[in-house]
Order: sequence, then C-alpha cells, then structure tokens
Amino acid sequence: INHIGVLTSGGDAPGMNAAVRAVVRCAIFHDMKVTGIVEGYTGLLTNTLRPLNTRSVSNIINQGGTFLKSSRCMEFYEEAGRAKAAEKLHQEGIQALVVIGGDGTFTGATLLAREQKIPVVGIPGTIDNDIYGTDFTIGFDTAINTAVEAVDKIRDTATSHNRLFFIEVMGRDAGYIALHAGIGAGSEEILIPEQHRGLDYLLDSLDRSNRAGKTSSIVIVAEGDKSNSVLELAKSVEEKLPEYSARVTILGHLQRGGRPTCFDRVLASRLGVAAVDTLRTGSSGVMVGLRDNRISLTGLEKACKETPDMDPELIRVSNIVSI
Ligand code: F6P
Repeated sequence: INHIGVLTSGGDAPGMNAAVRAVVRCAIFHDMKVTGIVEGYTGLLTNTLRPLNTRSVSNIINQGGTFLKSSRCMEFYEEAGRAKAAEKLHQEGIQALVVIGGDGTFTGATLLAREQKIPVVGIPGTIDNDIYGTDFTIGFDTAINTAVEAVDKIRDTATSHNRLFFIEVMGRDAGYIALHAGIGAGSEEILIPEQHRGLDYLLDSLDRSNRAGKTSSIVIVAEGDKSNSVLELAKSVEEKLPEYSARVTILGHLQRGGRPTCFDRVLASRLGVAAVDTLRTGSSGVMVGLRDNRISLTGLEKACKETPDMDPELIRVSNIVSI
C-alpha cells in the first residue's frame, strides 16, 4: 500500500484531530501518500478530498472537533452509495482507508470492506465509550472531565440553595459517561440504561438521603436511559417528596467540545499509528483499540455489534461511595 485515505465520521469527539495527525505522520514516515476525506463518507460522494502532508496536521493536536469535518452520511447506508464511494477511491488511487468514529462509522466500514473489497481499519472515536474491543474510545476522557467540571459548578448552587439537581449527560444508548462522571463528581445517584433503576428506586434513595441529613443532592441521568426522562423525574420527585426543590440541567453538546485531555491525545496518537501499522501488515476489517494498556485488534463487525460490559466493580464503587 502506498496511498491511504483518512476520514472522521459520526459525532465528533475531542482527540479526533490528534488521531488524524498520527495517521498522516505515520503514513508519511513509511513513505505513503495520504488523502483526507472531508465530512466523513460524504466527501467520497461529493468529491471533497484534500491531500495531507506533515504540515497540514500541525497545531491540531490540542484542538477539539475534527478539522476534516464529520457527518452522518445517509447515502452510505445504501449499497449503491458504497459502490460509488469505492469507485471514487479507485479513481484517486487510494488503496486503503482509516476511518475514525463510532458504531455507525464502523457499520459502513464493514460493508465497504466486505462488498467493495477496500482494505479498511477503524479507530474508535466517540465520547460515548460504547465500542466493544477497547477499554477507552477517543473523546471519552475529555467528555467526562468536561461533565465533572460542569457538575462541580452546579453543586455549588445546589448546596447554597439546598436543592436537588437532575443532570442529564450524553450517551445515546450507554451509561459510561454517566457512571464515570457520576462517581467523579460525587453524585448521590446515577441512572443508566444498563440498570433500569426506576422512579420507585429513586424515591426510596432520596428519602433515605433526606432522613440521613443530606440537604442537597445531585442525580446524574444518562441520556440513553429512555425509561427515565429527567424532566419527568424531577416533576414526579417534587410531587412525591415535597421537601425537595428540584432543578434540571441537560449538559448536551458542550460535552462534545473542547481541548482534548492529555489522555485522549496520547490514546489517539497510539491508535493512529497502530491503524497505519495494521494496514501495512495487510490486515483489514479490524478496529485498533486499547485493552489493558496494550494495542489490540477486534473485527470491525464485532466491535459495532457487541456491547461492552458495564464494569460491575465500578457500579459497586458508585453504590458504596454515594451513601
Ligand atoms: O455519539 C455521540 C453523541 O454525542 C451521543 O452521546 C448523542 O446521543 C449523539 O451523539 C447526538 O448526536 P447529534 O449531535 O447528531 O444530535
């Protein structure tokens, strides 16, 4: 292989730039050409490509978002769209692709590799940390630090006014951000889709906290916990436990932005280099991840189909430290 393409797709995540930088520099280190595909798979269909050199990726390791831009490309869900994309890759002489994103990105990549025989390697980049085959995805560490900082600020007002705050954090289907940010910010309760703790559980817990003398509380609710809408929870709790004055904050997209933490920059650099190394060995259809602090390969299909386990030890810790 002497010419590769790189793209970022799906929700942007802090550290994606650091990953692109590592891919570009590792490819050039091995005398390969690199083309950046702008706006994810869309760039292949709209012909928005840009040649990248070592200087094109200068001064981006510290920037959030993705300078290559991103999108969720609907046309790529169709086989005809993927065939068109493969045709474009052939025309440009791009022999292999590194895709950086989450499960939607990997589903597209799996099909591109299988149907169109394009060698593809995936790098997990999503704040949700919901990808099987890696302990951490790029952007997760930055997102939980951002969430913790926000919750710390809300705690100041919760304490000053003896209030109960419901704070919704991101995670489309998963509770990793909620669990980590909840433990890190010392929240009283954490509601995640993996546990299905309902209103009755919460009422019991808040009643106990109240009787134990807690005057303010923070409840972290994962966006993915569809059984518990924050607004409804707050309303129901105020009705059933009138001693509480509740407020709701939805942190939303502020969790996706910002300068990546050092952890995310190092992770992204390691995975970027590993992706190019993997392509050079002739492997395809795999994701590079980090397991027990070692680079590890997982089939792309498995990475997007399987659900990573929610660590029971972390759940136990969160239960114990919040009493
Ligand atoms: O996958 C990352 C994520 O931020 C999820 O946590 C969230 O549900 C989703 O993306 C939001 O997507 P969009 O920015 O397209 O609304």
